[in-house]
Amino acid sequence: MMTFAKALIENQPTLQWFAGELSGAPVHKSVTNTGQLAGFFQDKVSLAGIDPATVVYRVEWWEPVSPTVEGGLFWGSTIIEPGRVGNEYFMTRGHFHTIRNRAEYYCTVQGNGMLLLMDELRNIKVEIMSPGSLHYIPGGFAHRAVNTGDTALCFWACWPSDAGHDYETVASKGFSARVLSKNGKPVLVPEEAVTEA
Ligand code: PA5
Ligand code: NI
Repeated sequence: MMTFAKALIENQPTLQWFAGELSGAPVHKSVTNTGQLAGFFQDKVSLAGIDPATVVYRVEWWEPVSPTVEGGLFWGSTIIEPGRVGNEYFMTRGHFHTIRNRAEYYCTVQGNGMLLLMDELRNIKVEIMSPGSLHYIPGGFAHRAVNTGDTALCFWACWPSDAGHDYETVASKGFSARVLSKNGKPVLVPEEAVTEA
């Protein structure tokens, strides 16, 4: 007969909700700096003046099942530092899911930002991120989080294990709009208007 001690699940994770940290289970971590985002920010001159090791965002996530498994869920946090390259706020690369119909949740715990959601026709919409904001990202929408505040933007995410990340589409075509600081306020500027901005 199974004893209670044997039935206890090992490696059950704990999360530090507001700090965006995971522990107690094997956790994946990634750090993305300005040097890795060279093709993503619009102002190349300003980017060249920033130490390429400057951290833009960190991600921690837990994969309780293999990414090849259909029907599982992954869970993770993203912390985007406050900062700008020229007038453009620090942001994530952004991606479509490789399996296009896979959706995702984001929920904000600290800071202020904007979530850009862009469909395959490049129609874009924006949701404001602030503590407590919950964001449903439908399948087929590329998603990018932008820190428009003076403090770190921290959010949790939950996504299907088999979703995959298609970074190539955004790397080659970009988003159809950028979030820029104008008179100290974040403004969504269509890509074709950015050079005049
Ligand atoms: O699954 C997600 O959408 C998030 O965990 C992102 O991967 C995270 O915010 C980092 O963004 P990106 O993957 O676009 O670099
Ligand atoms: Ni995603």
